[in-house]
Amino acid sequence: MHDDDRKALGSVGTPAPASQTGRDHRRDTTVTHGGLDERGSVFFAAIEMTRMPMILTDPNLPDNPIAFANKAFLDLTGYEEAEVLGRNCRFLQGAQTDRDSVAELRDAIEQRQSIALEILNYKRDGTPFWNAVFIGPVYDTSGNLLYFFASQLDVTRRRESEQASQQAQKMEAIGQLTAGLAHDFNNLLQVVNGNLELLGSRIEDAKQRSYLERARGAAERGAKLTGQLLAFARKTRLTPRAIDVNECIHAFADMLESSLGSRVELHLSLRRSLPKAVLDPEQFEMAILNIALNARDAMPAGGVLTISTAKLHLNGDAPARGLTPGDYIAIELVDEGEGMPDHVIARAAEPFFTTKATGKGTGLGLAMATGFVQQSRGRMELESKVGEGATVRLLFPVAVSNEGEKGQAAPLSSPTEMRGTAHILLVEDNADVRTLARENLEGAGYRVTEAENGDAGLAVFKQAMADDPFDLLFTDLVMPGTMNGIALADAVARLAPDLPVLMATGYNEELVAEEPQRSGRDVLGKPYRKAELLDRVSQALAKPGRDGDRRVPSDFGAAEE
Ligand SMILES: Cc1cc2nc3c(=O)[nH]c(=O)nc-3n(C[C@H](O)[C@H](O)[C@H](O)COP(=O)(O)O)c2cc1C
Ligand SMILES: Nc1ncnc2c1ncn2[C@@H]1O[C@H](COP(=O)(O)OP(=O)(O)OP(=O)(O)O)[C@@H](O)[C@H]1O
Ligand SMILES: [Mg+2]
Repeated sequence: MHDDDRKALGSVGTPAPASQTGRDHRRDTTVTHGGLDERGSVFFAAIEMTRMPMILTDPNLPDNPIAFANKAFLDLTGYEEAEVLGRNCRFLQGAQTDRDSVAELRDAIEQRQSIALEILNYKRDGTPFWNAVFIGPVYDTSGNLLYFFASQLDVTRRRESEQASQQAQKMEAIGQLTAGLAHDFNNLLQVVNGNLELLGSRIEDAKQRSYLERARGAAERGAKLTGQLLAFARKTRLTPRAIDVNECIHAFADMLESSLGSRVELHLSLRRSLPKAVLDPEQFEMAILNIALNARDAMPAGGVLTISTAKLHLNGDAPARGLTPGDYIAIELVDEGEGMPDHVIARAAEPFFTTKATGKGTGLGLAMATGFVQQSRGRMELESKVGEGATVRLLFPVAVSNEGEKGQAAPLSSPTEMRGTAHILLVEDNADVRTLARENLEGAGYRVTEAENGDAGLAVFKQAMADDPFDLLFTDLVMPGTMNGIALADAVARLAPDLPVLMATGYNEELVAEEPQRSGRDVLGKPYRKAELLDRVSQALAKPGRDGDRRVPSDFGAAEE
């Protein structure tokens, strides 16, 4: 629209473009016909038809009341026309409205300046909404202030998604920091634990042993904390399977009950014949325990903790919950404790956020639970009001047909005759971890050849092929150089397809959740104990299909064509 056109319409003049609110937008305006009675024009019809809420207030009346409100304004706020005419707009404000924003509005209106800001308002039924309000003065041709014009826009959805994505970014950043730290820590603890274990077998003196036990206890607690941090960072080595959640909860209900103490009563309300959910049962147990312990702490005088299960179908509301549409199993833990204010709910799942006294809580319980649930493609939801207890809801995707069953861990096998003679290629970049593994393996009688990275490992492997071939590749997953553990295993598989492979990993991204099952390779989580290492090595050596070459041929041989 050109200025000439505007003048031709005869109703407005002296435009004052507001650069920040739009190219041709007016911050104030002058009108030639001041009254509100002329309602027969197409412009009035347009104002009534638009979906943009609009009002006029009369600053010449006491307290600047609303003189006109269009239908869209009534739709937005839920009020009837008669309920808003004659009132100052502040009736839209409420308990959580930012007082500074109100003061900004007041100042601008006093000085007859236009203003645009976002303010928290409330509808007639009490529902809060974010209102992007624009206000500007309207003058007559003599320069007298006639009205204030305002338009309102409900921007709640945009604000909420901004907030959610800011929170998600913050958690992502903390997660990355945490993962890096926890990874290094895992390696250190591996060395500490392993050496303490080696020392343990050489120390007889009771007093010295008790020192050692204490050191080992502390190192194990350290490993547990590191595990929680990795879970938060969604970098746990998960073994998700199709699990009957009810059965799982039943199985550890006794353990839960004893952890809750005598003051807290545990009630189970498990929906019958639920489909299976895909999750790692050990981590699930840990998450439920963390949440249950919070409930216990929130009910120092005792009370009831109810765990219930249900099936949930999400479609339209799935994206709002950050999930893909489909069927979910919901596990709810409801307590009767002190509850949480909103600012605690907002931060409860952050690692190291705790309201407990120093030494009482590490702030990792819910961080672990939320990371685990997300890594399992589910979601954790918190609901609470101060004094009214808390509800923690975990959602896990329902298993499709027999998904996850292939992920069953290989059955435990007893040590085979290979033990003590097998030749193992040990590839690990950390010298301390490597030395420790070597000592443990050699202690059990294996022959070990070391390499410090993937490339060196492959070279050693090729060299040994002719005269002393390897029976097992035991490699770290994350290593510097051009070849990580997976690349090395792939390269070795091209030379010796049947060679068993065992991978050690503290954290990594590709392997999480699916990769170990898909590639059919055994994975050993760090830090591992000596017994675990030896168990997994002998299992890997004994894997079905691999011992074909080693079986003693029968006297009759095999039929030939
Ligand atoms: C035309 C006009 C529209 C207004 N619209 C809103 C609104 O949508 N939401 C709101 O919170 N305040 C709105 N206000 C501001 C309040 O009416 C009032 O000016 C503000 O609360 C500051 O004054 P107070 O401190 O006396 O309450 C509007 C004011 C005017 C003049
Ligand atoms: N059921 C609950 N009722 C009331 N407040 C809770 C509840 N669950 C969690 N909270 C609050 O959330 C905070 C974080 O919980 P989280 O489990 O992550 O850490 P923590 O319990 O403080 O320490 P940790 O679990 O590592 O020992 C708690 O300190 C507490 O303020
Ligand atoms: Mg806790």
